[in-house]
Amino acid sequence: MGKSEDLKALFQKNRQWADNTKKRDPQFFEKLAQLQAPKFMWIGCADSRVPATEITGLLPGEMFVHRNVANIVVHTDLNCLSVLQFAVEILKVDHVIVCGHYGCGGIKAVCDAAQFGLIDNWLMHVKDVENKHAVELKKIKKKDERFSRLCELNVMEQATHVCETTVVQDAWKKGQQLSVHAVIYDIHDGLLKKLWSKVGPK
Ligand code: CO
Repeated sequence: MGKSEDLKALFQKNRQWADNTKKRDPQFFEKLAQLQAPKFMWIGCADSRVPATEITGLLPGEMFVHRNVANIVVHTDLNCLSVLQFAVEILKVDHVIVCGHYGCGGIKAVCDAAQFGLIDNWLMHVKDVENKHAVELKKIKKKDERFSRLCELNVMEQATHVCETTVVQDAWKKGQQLSVHAVIYDIHDGLLKKLWSKVGPK
């Protein structure tokens, strides 16, 4: 199948999906067009194997999503911070989930010290996590296990960054009920595992 057929198939699948969704709930799109009121915000990896709403069985309208390579939360990233601010202050989500995944290509690049160009700069944030936990990581002899542990450590660090943002700190100061969760997804069995949760306000 050529490239233009790929796109044609994609539009056909979209039409099928819209038709099926309307059959299940004739008012589905009308209701959603008027309002979104998600309980969850998701910060996840851009990896095509980790589609946030699909793996959690949620429908459109149920999760506010931000994704980037290796699910990184940087204090100066206006893109991620703006999504977080809108989710917490305007949509008033109850949960912010930072989800990493085993087998993450971004984390692997750091483990292997591989070079891919511009993206290496972005992945320096993962390198920082590796450096911070160098003592623990060096004790893990098996390369695969070290890689998986860095996937976990990275999620926990990035979720900590979420807690440290002015957005979340202000919400907790105001008494807003908001939880932040560090979660990891296993691409081998499709299951999510919770690493920790911080339940606010503190
Ligand atoms: Co990834």
